[in-house]
Amino acid sequence: MAKKKASSAEATSQSTSEPASASGPASGRRVQLPPAEVRYADELTALAAADRHERPEGWSLSPQSIVDFICGSDGVKVGGNKAEARVITEKFVGHRDVVQRCVVTLAGERGLMLVGEPGTAKSMLGELLAVAISGTGSLAVQGTAGTTEDQIRYGWNYAMLLDRGPVREALVPSPVMTGMRDGKVVRFEEITRCLPEVQDALISILSERRMMIPEMDHAADGAGNSLFAAPGFALIATANLRDRGVSEMSAALKRRFNFETIAPIADEVRERELVSTRAAALLAETGSKAAVDRSLVELLVTVFRDLRNGRSDEGWQVTRPSTVMSTAEAVAVATAITRESVFFPSGFDPVSRMPGHLLGVVMKDEAKDRERLLAYWDGPVRRRAEDGSPLWKRLMELRGVLEE
Ligand SMILES: Nc1ncnc2c1ncn2[C@@H]1O[C@H](COP(=O)(O)OP(=O)(O)OP(=O)(O)O)[C@@H](O)[C@H]1O
Ligand SMILES: [Mg+2]
Repeated sequence: MAKKKASSAEATSQSTSEPASASGPASGRRVQLPPAEVRYADELTALAAADRHERPEGWSLSPQSIVDFICGSDGVKVGGNKAEARVITEKFVGHRDVVQRCVVTLAGERGLMLVGEPGTAKSMLGELLAVAISGTGSLAVQGTAGTTEDQIRYGWNYAMLLDRGPVREALVPSPVMTGMRDGKVVRFEEITRCLPEVQDALISILSERRMMIPEMDHAADGAGNSLFAAPGFALIATANLRDRGVSEMSAALKRRFNFETIAPIADEVRERELVSTRAAALLAETGSKAAVDRSLVELLVTVFRDLRNGRSDEGWQVTRPSTVMSTAEAVAVATAITRESVFFPSGFDPVSRMPGHLLGVVMKDEAKDRERLLAYWDGPVRRRAEDGSPLWKRLMELRGVLEE
């Protein structure tokens, strides 16, 4: 039991002991998904070199450059006198104002809580903010129904504890403790899935900016029983509105956070672009140069938006399935179908694969969702086909797939 406790704080820390490089860890070993600080290392270096604005103590970049890093910019000057403009890619598709407010919150004394429907890029935004502010997004706690307080605070290396007593070296810090010590941003994913008493361990950390270590009251090393947070420490939590989890947050903890709601992408054209570019990027990470079919993306994004909003652009009513039709899921479907075209190229028609994949997305919770998808086919899909659109005609012909 004691041993298990010591390792649980360690287990939540996703930080790696290997230093990272552009292609992955320093060993040169390939990794599936390099962390954001590795993927965007060039942009971060360019932004830091060009940054002339004031930055809060402990931050790697100024608030202005952080917003540019996340929302994109085409005018970052690098290279001193022979200045050339460096394009910074748009990573989060959404209002600049939202990102700006997030950055301001993190410079203050409250935590930042990103809430919203599943798949709206809350985790991605949290990671990008952490990377831009602290140079790493690896200090993270994944909230689950089984998260314990020592995964938020600290555990002990019991062998050393028995040998030397409660000295600082015997502590096994959680990511939160490490972030406080080093002045870095810590992410707490899916916080509402944790029990309230566990969540409440954050109250004193957020309000007093210190962590008590009562065991060290009588420590021989005289280091004291508190760890005070260094400048730069801040907390970003995410919570999913659908997956409320085992319990709701206490009012006391809510008051220590600024809430920011992350909405699905409002603009259809931008959502299409994102689905295409993200799917292509995901395929490229696995070494594939396959192009994502434009017609597929067009149909996919329209279907996802209609089912998400409960209404089509033409104003027709659509019954929503119980599953959330998130952009993240649309990216996953576009990626899967394109990957399929690489593995099974002979006579491949991407649109013909769409109904099967859609059924996979929709049929997660309720059997009724199949009927809702069929009703969508009998409504908007049929009407668009009858209006003469060849793509929608093709989709209508595939209705049978949904009944199998
Ligand atoms: N507004 C957006 N900007 C950029 N990417 C987006 C956006 N919305 C969705 N995505 C895509 O969705 C993916 C998944 O996002 P992420 O996992 O961060 O969502 P989430 O809100 O944390 O979801 P969950 O609630 O399920 O944890 C991103 O990697 C990105 O490809
Ligand atoms: Mg998430």
